[in-house]
Amino acid sequence: MRTQVVIIGGGPSGLLLGQLLQRQGIDTVLLERHSREYVLARIRAGVLEAGLVNLLHEAGVGERMQRDGLQHEGIYLAHSNRGFRIDFRRLCDGAVTVYGQTELTRDLYQARDAMGAAMLHQVDQVEIHGADSERPQVNFIHDGRARRIDCDFIAGCDGFHGVSRNTIPADRRSQFERVYPFGWLGVLSQTPPVSEELIYASHERGFALCSMRSPSLSRYYIQVALEDNVQQWSDAEFWNELKRRIPHDAAESIVTGDSIEKSIAPLRSFVAEPMRWGRLFLCGDAAHIVPPTGAKGLNLAASDVYYLWRGLRQYYDAGDTRGIDDYSALALARVWKAERFSWSMTNLLHRFPGQSPFDLRMQQAQLEYLESSSAAQTALAENYLGLPY
Ligand code: APR
Ligand code: PHB
Repeated sequence: MRTQVVIIGGGPSGLLLGQLLQRQGIDTVLLERHSREYVLARIRAGVLEAGLVNLLHEAGVGERMQRDGLQHEGIYLAHSNRGFRIDFRRLCDGAVTVYGQTELTRDLYQARDAMGAAMLHQVDQVEIHGADSERPQVNFIHDGRARRIDCDFIAGCDGFHGVSRNTIPADRRSQFERVYPFGWLGVLSQTPPVSEELIYASHERGFALCSMRSPSLSRYYIQVALEDNVQQWSDAEFWNELKRRIPHDAAESIVTGDSIEKSIAPLRSFVAEPMRWGRLFLCGDAAHIVPPTGAKGLNLAASDVYYLWRGLRQYYDAGDTRGIDDYSALALARVWKAERFSWSMTNLLHRFPGQSPFDLRMQQAQLEYLESSSAAQTALAENYLGLPY
C-alpha cells in the first residue's frame, strides 16, 4: 500500500491534520491504536482559541461547534474567597469558545468518514522505518495481518505515549520536563454550571476550577495529592472540598449531582526538540505536554497542525521545502511560550508541598497585582486567548 502522508494517531492532532490535507487533495492514511469508541470516551479540556476555531472552519468541521460552542469573553480568578474578572473583550478584544474536545473529535471522525479517507483502528505494533531516508515506511499489524505502507512523509500525532517521538534517535533529541507534585481530580456532572464563565480559584487547601461543557453539563476540578486515588473520593467529599475552595457566593449557589465521570490526572510540562527528524514530524502531545491550568494542550496541537499543513501544502503545490524545513523551529517557538504561560498559571494558583511562607507571599502579591493592574491582566488575557500563528 502507498500514500502521501501516513498519520499515526487518531486524536485531535491526527484527525485535524488529515482533514486539512485531504481537502487539499493530499492523500493520507490514519492509523489509530484504539477503537473509535475508546477515543470518544476520553474526557478532555474544551477551551478553543480563535486560531483553532478558524482552523476548524477551514477544515469544514466548524458547523456544530459554531452552533453549540459557548463564547466566553472572560474568566474569573479567585483567591481569599473573592473573585475578580479578566475581561478578554475589553483588554484584548477577544474571546474563547468552550466546546468539548470529545465533540470536536466526533465531528472530525464524521468528516473523515464522509470523505471516505482511509482510517484503520486497533492497529498494533506500529513501527516507523527509513524516516531519515527518501522512502519512509510504516509497518503494523491490523486484523491479525502484518501490513506495510510506503509514503512521502509521516506525521507522528500519537500522543505522549506513542511510538513516533522515540523513533528519533536519543542522540538527536533533547527532552525538557517538569513533573508537578500534585494531580487534578476531575468530575463531570449533569448539572448547570455554577458560573457562566470559568472560575480558577487559589485556596490554602489547594487549587479548584469550575468549568463546563454545556449549559447543563459541568466540569469541576480540585488539586489533590499525587498518592490519592479516585475510590478515596466519594461524590459528597468531592463537592464539599470544591465548595471550601471557591468563593462563598459560588459555593452557596452551586448545584451538585452524581458524577458521570471522575478521574485523576497528573500534571506535567514536557517538550521534545526537534519536532522533525527527516521525513517524520511530531505534532501535539507526541512532542509536548502542558499542565491543564491554561487550557493550552489542544490549542498547541492546533498550531502544530497548522504549520505542518502549510508546509506540506507548499511542498506538494510547488515543490518548495521551506515550510517543512522551518516546521520544527516555528512550532517550538510557539510551544515554549505556551509552556511558559501554563507553568506560570500552575505556579500561581496551586499549593506546593513544602512551600515556604515567602513563596506564599509571592503568590499572594502576584494575585493582588493581577487584581489591580490592567497591564498584568492584559498579559494574562493575551496568553489565554492564544498567541498568533
Ligand atoms: N499507534 C497508533 N496510534 C497510537 C499509538 C500507536 N503506537 N500510540 C498512541 N496512539 C493514539 C492514541 O490512542 C490516541 O488516540 O494516538 C492518539 C493521540 O491522541 P491524543 O493523546 O489526544 O494527542 P493529540 O491528538 O496530540 O491531542 C492533543 O488533545 O488529547 C488531548 O491533552 C491532549 O489536549 C491535548 C490534545
Ligand atoms: C475543562 O473544562 O476541562 C478545562 C477548562 C479549562 C482548563 C482546564 C480544563 O484550564
